Amino acid sequence: MNMDLQFLYALFLATSFMHGVHSSVFTIKNNCPYDIAPATLTSSGASVTTGFELAPQASNSINVPTPWSGRVWARFQCSNDGGTFSCKSGDCGSGQVACNGAGAIPPATLVEFTLADASGKDFYDISLVDGFNLPVSVVPQGDCQAISCPADINSQCPTDLAVNDGSGGTIGCKSACVQFNEPQYCCTGAYSTPQTCPPTNYSMFFKNLCPDAYSYAYDDPSSTFTCNTGPNYDITFCP
Ligand SMILES: *[C@@H]1O[C@H](CO)[C@@H](O)[C@H](O)[C@H]1NC(C)=O
Repeated sequence: MNMDLQFLYALFLATSFMHGVHSSVFTIKNNCPYDIAPATLTSSGASVTTGFELAPQASNSINVPTPWSGRVWARFQCSNDGGTFSCKSGDCGSGQVACNGAGAIPPATLVEFTLADASGKDFYDISLVDGFNLPVSVVPQGDCQAISCPADINSQCPTDLAVNDGSGGTIGCKSACVQFNEPQYCCTGAYSTPQTCPPTNYSMFFKNLCPDAYSYAYDDPSSTFTCNTGPNYDITFCP
């Protein structure tokens, strides 16, 4: 950075501070025994880094200015053939480590946040509505509930939902909505209210393994968590 930029940056930080801009730190850790490439998608608020790689046991802390809402997931079995980055699981299709505003191609375990500014409530959840690709935990660094989907759902995935890597390994487990695209699984059409879209045997397969996580669209009562203190969050893949 040259001097002018340093000065402008200092000025920016100072004015941000005076205007009371708040932020939350996400510390994203790879506890899997292989490389992963976490990614984020911002749905409202300032955009943050959209992708990076983590070796086993590595972590990366990112600053998320609040209010913010968006999601975090992770890709694995990634390669960089001929300069195009892609992953067999959780890919976003950007061709780069950065997803640049593209979301996960299902199935992918999603960690979803709606973070308030200083005065409000944070909402967070783990969603398997688009299926599962990696176990994950979310631990607020404060007096708020830790949640996780620790099970290796891939190894137990029903064959009609499983995504294979081409050499016998299961690298994802689609939700019934993603796989069959039918109203009773997707809660659309005649099934578009919580009353008319009950759990199905497929959503219950996910719910039994990961009770904290959303297993289908109207799973709210047991799957949304709130926090009043605007904490930082530790997000660990393969907790
Ligand atoms: C759910 O029920 C359908 C229809 O009876 C059956 O074909 C399918 O195997 C079941 N799936 C699970 C995960 O139990």
